[in-house]
Amino acid sequence: MQTRLFTLLTMMLMMTGVVALAKPRSIVLPEETTQFIEAPGAEAARNNCLACHSADYIATQPPKKGQAFWAAEVQKMIKAYKAPIEPADAEIIAKYLNENY
Ligand code: HEC
Repeated sequence: MQTRLFTLLTMMLMMTGVVALAKPRSIVLPEETTQFIEAPGAEAARNNCLACHSADYIATQPPKKGQAFWAAEVQKMIKAYKAPIEPADAEIIAKYLNENY
């Protein structure tokens, strides 16, 4: 079983190599469509919240979740996902998200 899987993987790798050699391809990613709502604090959100995912992640949350929810969300990004966000910015962003989402 292990050997078969290995053989299969090797073949797939080789095939990918051949295809890549035969036909170079380029892809064009779609433009970001969701922008942060323009309001005080939007700049801090743009600077700190777009490194790992789009603003869609914020825009698709249920509306009016409140300050505590957004503060916890920002802390989750910092603690669970290691987002390098300064405490001062975290506060500004949580306030901004509470007021606008
Ligand atoms: C270091 C990378 C990183 C940064 C920077 C980051 N996030 Fe996230 N975020 C993630 C990951 C990873 C997920 C989970 C993705 C998944 O589950 O598909 C996530 C998910 C989310 C979600 C979806 C709900 C949830 O809890 O999973 C929201 C809302 C969110 N982020 C908001 C923010 C905000 C606001 C900021 C800026 C303060 C931010 N993120 C910055 C990594 C990051």
